Amino acid sequence: MNFNITTDKLSEIKSDLEIIIVIDGDLKHKFIQDKKLLKKAGFKAGQDEVCLLLEKNRLYVGSETLKGVGIRSAVATALRSLLGKKYKTVKIATYLSHPKCTASLRAAVEGVVLGAYTFTTYKSKKIKSRIKNIQISTEGYGDNYEVSLEAMARAVHNGDIAGSATNFTRDIVNTTPDDCYPEIMANIAEDLAKNSSLKCKILKPKELRKEKMETLLAVARASRHKPRVIHLAHKPKDPVAVISLVGKGLTYDSGGLSLKPADYMVGMKSDKSGGSAVLGIMKAISEMNLPVEVHGFVGAVENMIGGDAYKPDDVLVAKNGKTIEIRNTDAEGRLVLADTLCYAQQEVKADYLFDFATLTGACVVGVGHYTSGVMGNADEPKDLVVNLAAQAGELATKLDFNRHLKKTIKSEIADVCNISNTRYGGAITAGQFLAEFIDEDHKDKWAHIDIAGPAFVEHAWAENPHGASGAGVRMMLRLIEKIARTAKTD
Ligand code: BES
Ligand code: ZN
Ligand code: ZN
Repeated sequence: MNFNITTDKLSEIKSDLEIIIVIDGDLKHKFIQDKKLLKKAGFKAGQDEVCLLLEKNRLYVGSETLKGVGIRSAVATALRSLLGKKYKTVKIATYLSHPKCTASLRAAVEGVVLGAYTFTTYKSKKIKSRIKNIQISTEGYGDNYEVSLEAMARAVHNGDIAGSATNFTRDIVNTTPDDCYPEIMANIAEDLAKNSSLKCKILKPKELRKEKMETLLAVARASRHKPRVIHLAHKPKDPVAVISLVGKGLTYDSGGLSLKPADYMVGMKSDKSGGSAVLGIMKAISEMNLPVEVHGFVGAVENMIGGDAYKPDDVLVAKNGKTIEIRNTDAEGRLVLADTLCYAQQEVKADYLFDFATLTGACVVGVGHYTSGVMGNADEPKDLVVNLAAQAGELATKLDFNRHLKKTIKSEIADVCNISNTRYGGAITAGQFLAEFIDEDHKDKWAHIDIAGPAFVEHAWAENPHGASGAGVRMMLRLIEKIARTAKTD
């Protein structure tokens, strides 16, 4: 898709279709030329309500607000409604919620890219977006915009990168477990490095044994697909900060010997969402060429059953020497993350350490399908994630640790147990398990983001289609971009 930002007036731009966003039900705005027709059609301009006036070549869509969160969703819904239609060029005005801030323009561009997404790999008849060119006029919804054309162009460029990286992550997550297993995730990372300035290192079983990642290896043991740990690095000259990202990359989670019931197993190809998000973030970071050193680690493993499977009652030794009593092989993500987190901390002393994982069903029960749970020892990194997620249009909320829940993962025979002795508070106890594998240096620099809810939803919502959403990608890009900006001006 090509984006072009131009000072030409909307009326001077030739295109197949114009998209007009109606803000807060204001059908009297100067942009709306079809007041009577829209009234006849019963169009009320509610959030994400669309109305295509075929003969006028105009598509109206409602947004409750001029802020990015409304614009992104409205534009994406408009684009989704055009899938399979023959329009190739589209024009749209600039909508800003503040005269000096380009966030809504970026959101509109993200909305275009995210809304045009389809996953058609397994369809014989592929219905795709045919839109090739988007013309954005600097003619604004408001009259007093003060941003330069250069700043607008930057917002468009970064919005395109962020949206495309989210779609890249969606593609990996949506791919079936027989087509995307650990070796394939490693190939994807290597391809990324080949086509960019990213550095890539892949650890195969031999290296994993050398690194004493026996816990990760135990989870992987019953699968015919051997595990990989991926390390991608973006290393600019004179970085202003160092950030490590760690992702759970369970290419399939059958539950292992503690086998999941049939209904709960469906969709577990999405258990690689955290790792896939890390790959998408690394892609975008290198494309934006941010002055921050960023390391992405992915623990790519398949959790299966078989004669060689790890078992409830086993005691495993993690990379940091801690012993883990296994009572449920379906709590495997935390085991893979334990070793991957230890490896990441050994390799890189970071200013921030974030992990992304579809870690617990309990998080979905607690906060619902659309929101990520943010955990950790210290407020600063958690607040950073929650605030920047909101700016990026992702929902995330803090789930605080407490000492009472901490006691529920104690083991009588090992240092820690892989499940809690209570069925409540499962997202938090999983987070507290991970905290056992965070060293003293990173203790207050770490946040764990449980994306089990938003990563994969079987209906379209806001800017997201059915299936993988790419949760985590936009929130982390915003966060790293903010760090790049603040550290620079210090
Ligand atoms: N991958 C699942 C968590 C999950 C559930 C992700 C639903 C997305 C949607 C994880 O490995 C798991 O199975 N967790 C168990 C933990 C339990 C055994 C303590 C769970 O949540 O039931
Ligand atoms: Zn599991
Ligand atoms: Zn899992």
